[in-house]
Amino acid sequence: MINSKLPQVGTTIFTVMSKLAADNKAINLSQGFPGFDCYPYLQDLVSEYLRKGFNQYAPMSGVEDLKNRLAEKTKILYDIQLNAEEEITVVSGATEALYAAVTAVVRNGDEVILLEPAYDSYAPAVVLNGGVPVYVSLNLPDFSVDWGKVKAAITDKTRLIMVNTPHNPCGYVWTQEDLNTLAELIKDREIYVVSDEVYEHITFDGKKHLSLMTHSLLRERTFVCCSFGKTFHITGWKLGYCLAPKDLTSEFRKIHQFLTFSSCTPMQYALAEYMTEPSRYIYLNEFYQKKRDLFCEGLKNTPFKFTPAQGSFFQLVSYGHLSEESDYELAVRLTKEIGVASIPVSVFYHDQKDHKMLRFCFAKDEEVLEQALGLLSRPLF
Ligand SMILES: Cc1ncc(COP(=O)(O)O)c(C=O)c1O
Repeated sequence: MINSKLPQVGTTIFTVMSKLAADNKAINLSQGFPGFDCYPYLQDLVSEYLRKGFNQYAPMSGVEDLKNRLAEKTKILYDIQLNAEEEITVVSGATEALYAAVTAVVRNGDEVILLEPAYDSYAPAVVLNGGVPVYVSLNLPDFSVDWGKVKAAITDKTRLIMVNTPHNPCGYVWTQEDLNTLAELIKDREIYVVSDEVYEHITFDGKKHLSLMTHSLLRERTFVCCSFGKTFHITGWKLGYCLAPKDLTSEFRKIHQFLTFSSCTPMQYALAEYMTEPSRYIYLNEFYQKKRDLFCEGLKNTPFKFTPAQGSFFQLVSYGHLSEESDYELAVRLTKEIGVASIPVSVFYHDQKDHKMLRFCFAKDEEVLEQALGLLSRPLF
């Protein structure tokens, strides 16, 4: 028997709920992936590059054209000119970017501040590198950052803070004040930041995503981790990228080259060509705003309480005013009895704190959302 390095980790809730949804023929609003396909033109481009023979290893840090397109995107969105050769690395999904960034900075005994609820890959990445997760809860009910608590959690051992904006599962989008406060807290210490920005193009009601790289001090300390999967409806391609200053990128690449070395070649060429038209990523806010609005409008006919998400493609709902049932039990019961699968928010807390909330993914076709809302309007409690 192997003495497990991750004894607490079992099958993730996303796998459990997706299987439960399939077994019960329920509508799957649990796992975070689009229920629709990517654009045919992008598929055509992949076929074209496959046939043209772009089928061997890509350069370790990514195909040059794709890195150039990402540099262009950063210039368009944030007016920041990155050096594509030295500050941008293409990797196999944001999950790899997060792991490589954590591995680059965390040593045995280092403390890493995680803001909870937190995406499930953060803590294992820290633990596998000998780090110690230090959990700080986000404020209820809006899931803003409690900066007093973050300040109190910082010690001489703190090496890294992991943040996520727009946030999964809560949809909170960081403000300029959040960026300024974080910078103030770390400026005189050797603390790095991993910023998970996979939902960078999905914000609502005119709210702007503020990448941590837009703050001059944070930019020097931050690994910005992103995903092509969420932006172009291609989560199955597992492609992402990391933006970081030269010295951080150089350490990041040392890890990346021994984790995967490089990522899928024809897909990188296809994305590079697809991204020559910036509207293909800029339009995403509007695209998802319609879905969020439709979902929230329908939720008004259900017994749930909710505040519309500011970003990401998830909507939280709460039911504590109606029932004492645990969120896990309710998620399972709704899947089996009502036919709609969701994720209990307690799974995003290390101690399974139950705030009586569920997370629904609204990255689905409108008919699917309407059908799910119809089912959720039935008596649930
Ligand atoms: C917050 C967050 N970070 C990272 C990821 C992983 O992204 P990728 O599929 O590119 O590895 C996800 C996917 O659900 C996510 O929601």
